[in-house]
Amino acid sequence: MKPQTGLLLLLVLISVLFRAESRCKRGCLALGSYNAWPNSNITFISKMLNLPSHDPILEYNKDTLRSVDSLQVGRRINIPFSCDCINDEFLGHTFQYHLQSGDSYEKIAGTYYSGLTTSEMLQRFNSYDPIKPPDNNATLNVVVNCSCGNSAVSKDYGLFITYPLRVEDNLDILSVETNLSAALLQAYNPGVNFSAGGLVFIPGRDQNGTYPPLKLSQGLSGGAIAGISVAAVAGMLLAAGCMYVQFNRRKKTQAAKLLNVSQDLSSQDGRESIGHAGGAAPTGITIDKSVEFSYEELAKATNNFSLSNKIGEGGFGAVYFAELRGEKAAIKKMDMEASKEFLAELKVLTHVNHLNLVRLIGYCIENSLFVVYEYIENGNLTQHLRGSEKNPLPWSTRVHIALDSARGLEYIHEHTVPVYIHRDIKSANILIDENFHGKVADFGLTKLTEFGNNSLPTRLVGTFGYMPPEYAQYGDVSPKIDVYAFGVVLFELISAKQAVVKTNVACSINESKGLVGLFEEVLNESDPKENLRKLVDPRLGDDYSIDSVHKMAQLAKACTHENPLLRPSMRSIVVALMTLSTSGEDWDAGSYYENQALLNLMTGR
Ligand SMILES: Nc1ncnc2c1ncn2[C@@H]1O[C@H](COP(=O)(O)OP(=O)(O)O)[C@@H](O)[C@H]1O
Ligand SMILES: *[C@@H]1O[C@H](CO)[C@@H](O)[C@H](O)[C@H]1NC(C)=O
Ligand SMILES: *[C@@H]1O[C@H](CO)[C@@H](O)[C@H](O)[C@H]1NC(C)=O
Ligand SMILES: *[C@@H]1O[C@H](CO)[C@@H](O)[C@H](O)[C@H]1NC(C)=O
Ligand SMILES: *[C@@H]1O[C@H](CO)[C@@H](O)[C@H](O)[C@H]1NC(C)=O
Ligand SMILES: *[C@@H]1O[C@H](CO)[C@@H](O)[C@H](O)[C@H]1NC(C)=O
Ligand SMILES: *[C@@H]1O[C@H](CO)[C@@H](O)[C@H](O)[C@H]1NC(C)=O
Ligand SMILES: [Mg+2]
Repeated sequence: MKPQTGLLLLLVLISVLFRAESRCKRGCLALGSYNAWPNSNITFISKMLNLPSHDPILEYNKDTLRSVDSLQVGRRINIPFSCDCINDEFLGHTFQYHLQSGDSYEKIAGTYYSGLTTSEMLQRFNSYDPIKPPDNNATLNVVVNCSCGNSAVSKDYGLFITYPLRVEDNLDILSVETNLSAALLQAYNPGVNFSAGGLVFIPGRDQNGTYPPLKLSQGLSGGAIAGISVAAVAGMLLAAGCMYVQFNRRKKTQAAKLLNVSQDLSSQDGRESIGHAGGAAPTGITIDKSVEFSYEELAKATNNFSLSNKIGEGGFGAVYFAELRGEKAAIKKMDMEASKEFLAELKVLTHVNHLNLVRLIGYCIENSLFVVYEYIENGNLTQHLRGSEKNPLPWSTRVHIALDSARGLEYIHEHTVPVYIHRDIKSANILIDENFHGKVADFGLTKLTEFGNNSLPTRLVGTFGYMPPEYAQYGDVSPKIDVYAFGVVLFELISAKQAVVKTNVACSINESKGLVGLFEEVLNESDPKENLRKLVDPRLGDDYSIDSVHKMAQLAKACTHENPLLRPSMRSIVVALMTLSTSGEDWDAGSYYENQALLNLMTGR
């Protein structure tokens, strides 16, 4: 025991009894920024943050939350809580959570508490098994950090939001969204890299929509704050991305739930690669061999997961190159626990076999969850479009890659049992093999991870810039969310631009357009081809047919239609792209729509 311990204890006592200044100042009111995930709701959030009623949440988020039922996936809402001096060391609040079966520290921190805390914090402030918390309704202390301001930075701000940074956040974006200078935000978070995740503290507005100044002499005790019924004044949503603003301004469409994809069209067993509209050949890999690997085998195949074998870093963990049973493989190490259902579903996925889908070979559940894929030689589409180390893809190759990916998607939408919705289509999830064929990666997993335990709430809602409005706003899931994202990929193939153009100017003045808006504007012109040329990837030079580009852009526009019902199915997209890749000349938007109408008739949609 250190000699200071006694003195420290005395100090704690003094600070408690006399409210003297201690290492952390007295408490205050604080806000927590909660990122709504699919199936989250205000009742659940209130319960997590130990609020006796919904009222404080509604009152602090009047602008964005008109009623208890209007919570939108991907939205951030501000939740008031009392910020106390914990252990005389730092400012935080200890929420109480009742442990249930299936809980993991990652899931509680990352999902239930939306990243407001971390599994390290949960392990540190509880004395349970650090690997697996008990599931007997025991109480877990959930400590969330907070701030009461800093007079050395500014006396103008006295209320602070504990803000978990999402992958797409950075200092400039936050600065635009909050209308506060980057310098101020950085000053409140010294040494923090806003692009690297973690928690930051940003000034928040009070019930009257204004920034309350720092109160130097007075602080409210935690108890007093907990009892406060907060006055109803518009809160401000500080963190909704510009995309959402854009979506909001558009006419909201009630999207249909299309989850029950018609399976009767072709109810073949998913384990066969069948010749369908895409005409893909079977890959000829035996599917009956064991799909479960031992940790030793995987470790040996990857040189003990050495850094030199690492080929990628995904949202859920690292990807390693492996030589496994004489085959090249890619092993994804995921820091999550796999539930029974997850494993059952993984087994099903190992039977889904198609030339344009990255094949899932198997898995291992020792230590972490490892998922083993066939190795795809040539990296992902993002690297080919925007990486400096790859040669530019010729236009005809781009059309083929589009067709390949469309076939892969059509297959999981219509021909597998059960059918899948990918939910995270983007150029980084399309891999390129040695023959420059496209293969869709990661299918099934995005959906699965939602039911597994994970610590990255942002991943639950797909990827910013690829999400259609009905999904971003209402969390409506249908195959048409993949169609939308696929449309964005088509725009990427044309322009090599990123799905979200992160420029402050676009964000604050014009509202962020993203690729969809950028193309839409041009395609709506009476003679779009001239301005379309300006959007074409400069690395293509003049080696492309503007007619072909125009047709692909029109297809992409149809895919990204605001109304999911008006987006084509992957099946008709495959037909359209086949026409484009073989005889581009006789294909135009008119025939595409006829196509669609015809298919609608045939399939009874
Ligand atoms: N089967 C594979 N073969 C080759 N490279 C791969 C393979 N799977 C993943 N990678 C590389 O690792 C990156 C991240 O993997 P991915 O599975 O897409 O992770 P996440 O979807 O979680 O981001 C990919 O973009 C790709 O560059
Ligand atoms: C609220 O969300 C929780 C967690 O997702 C869920 O268990 C509960 O059923 C939901 N309640 C309502 C009314 O939707
Ligand atoms: C869990 O514990 C809390 C308080 O200790 C109690 O209110 C609640 O009813 C318990 N729930 C279950 C399912 O036992
Ligand atoms: C919360 O604050 C404590 C004390 O400063 C720090 O050790 C911890 O890392 C912080 N937690 C998070 C999630 O930032
Ligand atoms: C942003 O802040 C500036 C002053 O810092 C103010 O003039 C302007 O009105 C603010 N804009 C909005 C949208 O609040
Ligand atoms: C901040 O973090 C990002 C992402 O981790 C990294 O790319 C960048 O280099 C970092 N910036 C600084 C200044 O460290
Ligand atoms: C909000 O404004 C009203 C009227 O101006 C005022 O009475 C009240 O004290 C304000 N509340 C806060 C928290 O500033
Ligand atoms: Mg991926």
